[in-house]
Amino acid sequence: MKADDVKKIAVIGAGDMGNGIAEVAILAGYEVAMRDIEQRFVDRGVDTIKKSLAKLVQKNKITEDASKDALARLMPLVDLEEAVKDADFIIEAVPEIMDLKKSVFKDLDELSPKHAILATNTSNMSITEIASATNREDKVVGMHFFNPAILMKLVEVIKGKNTSDETVQITYDISEKFGKVPVIVKKDSPGFIYNRVNAPTSLLISKIMDAGSPTPEEFDAAFKAVMPMTPFELADYVGLDVAYHSLKYFSEVLSPEYKPSKVLEEKVNAKELGKKTGKGFYDWSSGRPNIDTSKATKEFDITHLIALQVNEATKLLEEGVVDDPKVIDLAMANGGGAGVGPFTLAKSIGYETLVKKCEELADKFNVEVFRPTKTMKEGKVSV
Ligand code: CAA
Repeated sequence: MKADDVKKIAVIGAGDMGNGIAEVAILAGYEVAMRDIEQRFVDRGVDTIKKSLAKLVQKNKITEDASKDALARLMPLVDLEEAVKDADFIIEAVPEIMDLKKSVFKDLDELSPKHAILATNTSNMSITEIASATNREDKVVGMHFFNPAILMKLVEVIKGKNTSDETVQITYDISEKFGKVPVIVKKDSPGFIYNRVNAPTSLLISKIMDAGSPTPEEFDAAFKAVMPMTPFELADYVGLDVAYHSLKYFSEVLSPEYKPSKVLEEKVNAKELGKKTGKGFYDWSSGRPNIDTSKATKEFDITHLIALQVNEATKLLEEGVVDDPKVIDLAMANGGGAGVGPFTLAKSIGYETLVKKCEELADKFNVEVFRPTKTMKEGKVSV
């Protein structure tokens, strides 16, 4: 099969990521079945797509006709068999629970045509393990989008241990047809590139939650001027359930230090999941929170966050997940709103300063994940 042979796409899950991916695919001209387990979830997904398309029309990014045509290509469904029985390419976007992913992949393997590629939008989890639930491991691949999928350019295409080169190539080509910037992740490793590089920041805010100081607003206020979305706000935006599951998974596969904080666990149990439920660390009932910059903490600054990113990025090089630092910068520049990658930033700040910041955070929180790597101390990575 070639990317041009892909005519029909199925997206499994109509939540934030699922409906965003479906919207991207219908706008790229594909027939798309979007499936969720209950009609109300499907309806909510369709509603979100309609609102987003209306925004694009209003901003003159697409025409009214293009929006209508795109919607006509969307087939919202609850019946899984109906959704996948004639699909050429299937993208799964269900919650980040390994057993759930495996059970979905087992069903997809049984119900979809033998030639279909089964892609997972998992943010962190092992593609190889998900693939093991199927009898077509060569056709299972990671295809990781970023929230909001309609705006964020990056797609990480992840090769599992048994994914064929043909599957990787088709997924790469389809990502380009979607208008995205794909990067290939050659080694199936937790969090791939983007989320792995940001994992220590999640750990840092998790430690701050438990310490109780600074408050989310005091912390975020320190970065408001230099980030499109600050760390606690971004966690709310992406979903505290997603943040919780990620940290839990990292604590199992990367380091026990990633264990999610008690505060985060309580928020998830109380269904205070951020934007999607109207409340997380902030109140989202009337849109993005107003962060008061006068409350900014002096305890942390942007070099702390950059230092953690660069340090984790050097681990990806040391572990052979990526062999070219430019690929990491390309991914990091396109996955969020930053527009620039960590190694480019390191060049202008200087590795010596960043090493000191990592040491400071490692000592302060007694966290070895923050400790600078050998590569970081050598300070020779250039892009
Ligand atoms: N559909 C269509 N258009 C949309 C939209 C949507 N859902 N949301 C926003 N827009 C458009 C707006 O209309 C606006 O257009 P103009 O520039 O033409 O005016 C533009 O996007 C900016 O939107 P807003 O002015 O409403 O809002 P903003 O300035 O607050 O930007 C944001 C919102 C684009 C999301 C910005 O805050 C941002 O870039 N945030 C960072 C997001 C990020 O880091 N994502 C990665 C998360 S990590 C992840 O996803 C990994 C994972 O595995 C979970």
